Amino acid sequence: MHVIVGITGGIAAYKATNIIRLLTEAGHTVKVIPTQNALRFIGATTLEALSHNTVDSDLYTDVESVKHVSLGQEADLVIVAPASAAFLGRFASGIADDLLGNTLLVTKAPVVLAPAMHSEMWQNAATASNVRTLTARGVHILEPAVGRLTGEDTGIGRMPEPEQIVEFALSTISKQDLLGKKFLITAGGTREEIDPVRFIGNKSSGKQGIAIALEALHRGASVTLIAANIERVPAEIKNIYRVESAQQMGLILDEQLEDHDFLVMAAAVADFKVLKPAASKLKRSELGDHLKIELVANDDLLENAVKRIHSEKLRVLSVGFAAETASGAKHLEELAKHKLAAKGCDLIVANNVANGAVFDAETNDVLILTRSGRSVTAQGSKRLVAAELLDVIVDLHPN
Ligand code: CTP
Repeated sequence: MHVIVGITGGIAAYKATNIIRLLTEAGHTVKVIPTQNALRFIGATTLEALSHNTVDSDLYTDVESVKHVSLGQEADLVIVAPASAAFLGRFASGIADDLLGNTLLVTKAPVVLAPAMHSEMWQNAATASNVRTLTARGVHILEPAVGRLTGEDTGIGRMPEPEQIVEFALSTISKQDLLGKKFLITAGGTREEIDPVRFIGNKSSGKQGIAIALEALHRGASVTLIAANIERVPAEIKNIYRVESAQQMGLILDEQLEDHDFLVMAAAVADFKVLKPAASKLKRSELGDHLKIELVANDDLLENAVKRIHSEKLRVLSVGFAAETASGAKHLEELAKHKLAAKGCDLIVANNVANGAVFDAETNDVLILTRSGRSVTAQGSKRLVAAELLDVIVDLHPN
């Protein structure tokens, strides 16, 4: 997708770098158009490096390419962040005296603005009127956040976080091919308690599961997330059950399964738990030099869910994950096929964790296998991988 990121003159301009990064990582082509004042806050070199594209804000360079028209025509989405009070005024009045202003008057793509300014300026009648005018014309305006402003004061006017702006912007153009569908997604890694302060855990960060949840939401689905030990869940995901252990996750899964159309088991679930967790802290001074902890198997939650789906004839499509230490692509495929058959789910997403690179990373590289024999590879940001996975799911389950 071609995305234009307009930046206007305000201290939050530096945060626009993260917007550019999030978009390029998700595979979009980004063209940055800063205003002259934006370039007082952030350098064109930084913007070029992050967007992998040339940056200029001048109407009168490269005139033969008619860029003041072509950029707006080519765009699939325009985001202006931060949008200053002065910019809102110019845009509301249709003033096209720079490249950003021209592009905005040409484009037919959705336009998303993230205003950022001091509270008094945001609340001023002129700004409020410009916002009303632009909203009535179909421009999407994200309310500024409340928090610390430039200087000592706090209040409404902060630019929302880059992640939130990108999510919001993408939602204005997302295909709604999962409208009305209900996803039950597990993410993160379970923890099995040894004593009140210690646990057996794993390296899963939950980022891939969260990316699937966000992508599903943006395509019109509703999402129930069972989050195992994930510190920060994005605000867009509202329906969350927080769990620690595999057993707790199993209880919520049992309760929720039949109300959903899709089960995505992205969580790393502990295969074993401590047979008898200690009620009080194990004291090093009392343990000696060897410690034996007896473990017993946890239920296989995915296998149980699949059995229930079959026995109760639930209309739930099940997606398993397979973290494998494979010696190469061929080996990964063999292991994935084996796990798909063993778990009995409809689809499996396998990744090679041989060098540990996947954990907590922003990118992923997976093999998606379906029971019907389809094989798809996907690599890139976890969000891109999520989008590819949902494409496969939609093909399997078109309505
Ligand atoms: N899973 C589960 N319950 C468990 C263990 C795993 O539901 N007790 C699910 C995971 O959520 C994932 C899939 O099963 O979707 C595969 O997990 P993985 O750790 O790759 O495999 P294991 O089942 O542990 O098998 P193995 O150790 O033999 O690779």
